Amino acid sequence: MFVLSLCFFAHFVLGSTPQPFPPHLANFSTACSEFEPLKYVSNATLNVHEFVAAGTTLHFPGTDPSCGTANQTVSVDICRIALNISTSDRSGIIFESWLPRTWTGRLLATGNGGIDGCIKYDDINYGNKNGFSAVGSNNGHNGTGGSAFLHNPEVLKDYIYRSLHTITEGGKNLTTAFYSAPANNSYYLGCSGGGRQGIKAAEMFPEDFNGIVVGAPAVNFNNMTSWRASFFGKTGASTSPNFIPASAWQGFIHDAVLKQCDAIDGAVDGIIEDPTLCDFRPEELICSSGQNSTKCLNEAQVEIVRSVLSPLYGSSGELVFPAMQPGSEVQAVQGLYSGTPFPYSLDWFRYVVYNSSTFDDTHFSVSDITAAQALNPYNVQTYPSNLSNFTGTHKGKLLIFHGQQDEKITSFSTERFYNHLASGMELHSSQIDDFFRYFRISGMFHCSSGPGAWMIGQSGSGSMSFYPETNILAAMVQWVEEGIAPDTILGVKFVNDSVAKGLERSRRHCRFPYRNTYIGGNASLQRSWECMLYE
Ligand SMILES: *[C@@H]1O[C@H](CO)[C@@H](O)[C@H](O)[C@H]1NC(C)=O
Ligand SMILES: *[C@@H]1O[C@H](CO)[C@@H](O)[C@H](O)[C@H]1NC(C)=O
Ligand SMILES: *[C@@H]1O[C@H](CO)[C@@H](O)[C@H](O)[C@H]1NC(C)=O
Ligand SMILES: *[C@@H]1O[C@H](CO)[C@@H](O)[C@H](O)[C@H]1NC(C)=O
Ligand SMILES: *[C@@H]1O[C@H](CO)[C@@H](O)[C@H](O)[C@H]1NC(C)=O
Ligand SMILES: *[C@@H]1O[C@H](CO)[C@@H](O)[C@H](O)[C@H]1NC(C)=O
Ligand SMILES: *[C@@H]1O[C@H](CO)[C@@H](O)[C@H](O)[C@H]1NC(C)=O
Ligand SMILES: *[C@@H]1O[C@H](CO)[C@@H](O)[C@H](O)[C@H]1NC(C)=O
Ligand SMILES: *[C@@H]1O[C@H](CO)[C@@H](O)[C@H](O)[C@H]1NC(C)=O
Ligand SMILES: *[C@@H]1O[C@H](CO)[C@@H](O)[C@H](O)[C@H]1NC(C)=O
Ligand SMILES: *[C@@H]1O[C@H](CO)[C@@H](O)[C@H](O)[C@H]1NC(C)=O
Ligand SMILES: *[C@@H]1O[C@H](CO)[C@@H](O)[C@H](O)[C@H]1NC(C)=O
Repeated sequence: MFVLSLCFFAHFVLGSTPQPFPPHLANFSTACSEFEPLKYVSNATLNVHEFVAAGTTLHFPGTDPSCGTANQTVSVDICRIALNISTSDRSGIIFESWLPRTWTGRLLATGNGGIDGCIKYDDINYGNKNGFSAVGSNNGHNGTGGSAFLHNPEVLKDYIYRSLHTITEGGKNLTTAFYSAPANNSYYLGCSGGGRQGIKAAEMFPEDFNGIVVGAPAVNFNNMTSWRASFFGKTGASTSPNFIPASAWQGFIHDAVLKQCDAIDGAVDGIIEDPTLCDFRPEELICSSGQNSTKCLNEAQVEIVRSVLSPLYGSSGELVFPAMQPGSEVQAVQGLYSGTPFPYSLDWFRYVVYNSSTFDDTHFSVSDITAAQALNPYNVQTYPSNLSNFTGTHKGKLLIFHGQQDEKITSFSTERFYNHLASGMELHSSQIDDFFRYFRISGMFHCSSGPGAWMIGQSGSGSMSFYPETNILAAMVQWVEEGIAPDTILGVKFVNDSVAKGLERSRRHCRFPYRNTYIGGNASLQRSWECMLYE
């Protein structure tokens, strides 16, 4: 079975007939050096202009070390254009446009993450490798922090929507000029903060993309930022007496979550297919008298677990953000449950909401929620209830995926967004299916990795092939260009995430509201599961 699953990874590439070469690109390196990019992008200056041969490792010495992207090995021959684009007298974008020798007529714009300004070179290369002309940017500032936002609304504007729109336009201009033909279709790929960028583009610039693929979108941004900031107050500092250590979350608490909820989908395999069905009861972990406390909780700690896994409510009891899904504790101990302020939220409150680098969220309260919501710069909130300009007039398609063990943005938020859009557009899920599908990726952490079949083509490192059945970006291309929508996405997981060690599991992930259900046989095989609709 594994052999059978593996064989289609080897060769199939969507749109595998490369287009005839435009004659002027026959000598690609010459065509690259003779190209004049500054003619096609406004307000730009040149940083880099070079032909890069396949296999070359590019180095980015100027990149902020917090981004952790010092180099990128390029998979195919490209013409690399890096520009500075000025967006105002107080802001600018570092822009990369990589034009591959073998072009399929497609453009791919890539997003960022968190509140960061880190270029995803890996995603740009992933696009090139599959024939896209690809663009990315630093989203208007460098590094993972938010200090560049302080007293600079122009930098904020770039981050919230202007940078992506500008690079998409710039990328289209360069693509048209370089290949002497416009891109036939343009796509977007981004996760987390990059997910929010994609939804914002659908909302504000419905003509920018034909297909938008986003993971774990940071929509409902102000409320999500508050939700993240609220954990520190719930867990207490790591030095506080009832602080629950990582070993407890990762050990007996996670075990108890699995014991209560793993079998709901029919298979006990360490993966909860639908965490919305998991109503975890931590009280069973209260220490009995004389029990070794490394395996149980006191009453105050049980309350902490309960509160950490509860939704965030506002001053009048209204829902601010849904609960963290149970199952994600193994990874959440490194961030939200770590007993330290969550950096992205801290910086947002410091540099955007309060303009004060001394703000600290030790005493985070509902007044902070209100302040973040009231400011809502450039509608960063990103919670559209009607995307019909994108999906109707422009026939745009939207695919969202969300890991069901996401430790940074609860997947319950995406389900809520789906329902919000469905009710805002007055559509049933069978109608929403015409332009928007949401895939719940069981056993996947934030954007990638995890014990589940998490490789679904969401990034270069998360893809084995460019086959629509197994690759969410290829599925989008097929949907846009051939009208065939994906019903499932087949994900894979390799032993220790090493291809050489062999396949550990494969599973077809279902589109919401279908639910993956075990129907018998070896649970690590895709054929042992079926997508079912429960009313
Ligand atoms: C491409 O052009 C360059 C510079 O004119 C030249 O050195 C090179 O040999 C050419 N390559 C091919 C394959 O014609
Ligand atoms: C793209 O080209 C158009 C037409 O030349 C120009 O008006 C526009 O400013 C360009 N876009 C960018 C981002 O440079
Ligand atoms: C590009 O812009 C940055 C500021 O965003 C500036 O520091 C750098 O010098 C610029 N580079 C060029 C070549 O203009
Ligand atoms: C951002 O990084 C680029 C290099 O990628 C550098 O040229 C630029 O000066 C940096 N900008 C700021 C404001 O530090
Ligand atoms: C690329 O950067 C990584 C660290 O991010 C480093 O481990 C690796 O050695 C670098 N590769 C090259 C070829 O410089
Ligand atoms: C170019 O920059 C100026 C001022 O910095 C700005 O007003 C204008 O909109 C920019 N043009 C484009 C196409 O972005
Ligand atoms: C773009 O679409 C046109 C018309 O369908 C087609 O002729 C052309 O081959 C496509 N270009 C590429 C590069 O695929
Ligand atoms: C509790 O269990 C831990 C680890 O299993 C052990 O190291 C410790 O000595 C035990 N404490 C008591 C009081 O039994
Ligand atoms: C965001 O939080 C506010 C409370 O500050 C609440 O009124 C609003 O409904 C929330 N929005 C969403 C989409 O959750
Ligand atoms: C922070 O600055 C922004 C403008 O940059 C302003 O809109 C906001 O009201 C300021 N916040 C506070 C708390 O002063
Ligand atoms: C659709 O676009 C029109 C024209 O730009 C705009 O007036 C309208 O508000 C948009 N509708 C939505 C739901 O965004
Ligand atoms: C959604 O927006 C479109 C375009 O603005 C509008 O025509 C339509 O009536 C809206 N749908 C609903 C249910 O409000």
